[in-house]
Amino acid sequence: MDKFNLYAKYYNLLYKDKDYTGEVEYIDKIISSFSQDKASALLDLGCGTGIHADLFSERGYIVDGVDLSEQMIAEAKENYSSNSKLRFFTGNINDFRIDKKYEVVTSLFHVISYQNSNNALLNSFKTAAAHLDKDGLFIFDFWYGPGVLTDLPTSRVKELENEEIKVKRSATPVMHNELNVVDVNYNIEIVNKVTKSSETIDEKHSMRYLFRPEIENYLQQSQFKLIGFYHWLSFDAPGMSSWNGVAIAKKYKHENWSLD
Ligand SMILES: C[S@@+](CC[C@H](N)C(=O)[O-])C[C@H]1O[C@@H](n2cnc3c(N)ncnc32)[C@H](O)[C@@H]1O
Repeated sequence: MDKFNLYAKYYNLLYKDKDYTGEVEYIDKIISSFSQDKASALLDLGCGTGIHADLFSERGYIVDGVDLSEQMIAEAKENYSSNSKLRFFTGNINDFRIDKKYEVVTSLFHVISYQNSNNALLNSFKTAAAHLDKDGLFIFDFWYGPGVLTDLPTSRVKELENEEIKVKRSATPVMHNELNVVDVNYNIEIVNKVTKSSETIDEKHSMRYLFRPEIENYLQQSQFKLIGFYHWLSFDAPGMSSWNGVAIAKKYKHENWSLD
């Protein structure tokens, strides 16, 4: 088994219990509550392997997805090659542009927290704005600052197993409180149970935790107004124990500001 296969199998195992269906149902509910007309075209920023995109298409959306990772996009294209409602592109959401407008732009599963500098954050929001008309919706989740600082990240070990592979993932966080960034250093040991071959992967995920006033500020700079701010998967305000927040923004027309 080559390296890519092992890695892909590890990802599938790691997220096998993630409730993508429930998440898409939740986002669909947000869309129908906040948009005036029935939305049909959706752009997913940081789409990964396209699971949300596929589930959105089952609900009637035509979806384009973009991701930085060629591996993720290759897997998305392969998994959903027969779904004509989906297209996938490799690109950086800081500067991705496609000549199409959508009714909704999403960015799900902490993708916005990966944009850990002010510039990257603002440019990602501008990418969302560039692909929406007036009143279009931008919906994203993120690491919520008050929750992260209340319940600080700690070292954790996760062990997973199926009939093919066994995985031990150790996560060691390093806080950069002057940047509002947590480096999560992963050490991942993957053992193929059949061939007994193994592989170790080291990964650093630098995640920015965000606060409502800065989100509002960056949104405003990119032609958005914040119209909803909740604890993820709920319609309640995030509290001090919320690690995961969701923001809903509506594009407004700004007369003196033209997009690139
Ligand atoms: C935790 S994964 C989530 C993937 C997918 N949204 C999901 O829910 O399965 C984060 C994704 O964000 C992508 N990503 C991070 N920064 C990006 C950027 N600047 N441009 C495009 N994709 C980015 C990564 O490649 C990765 O696929």
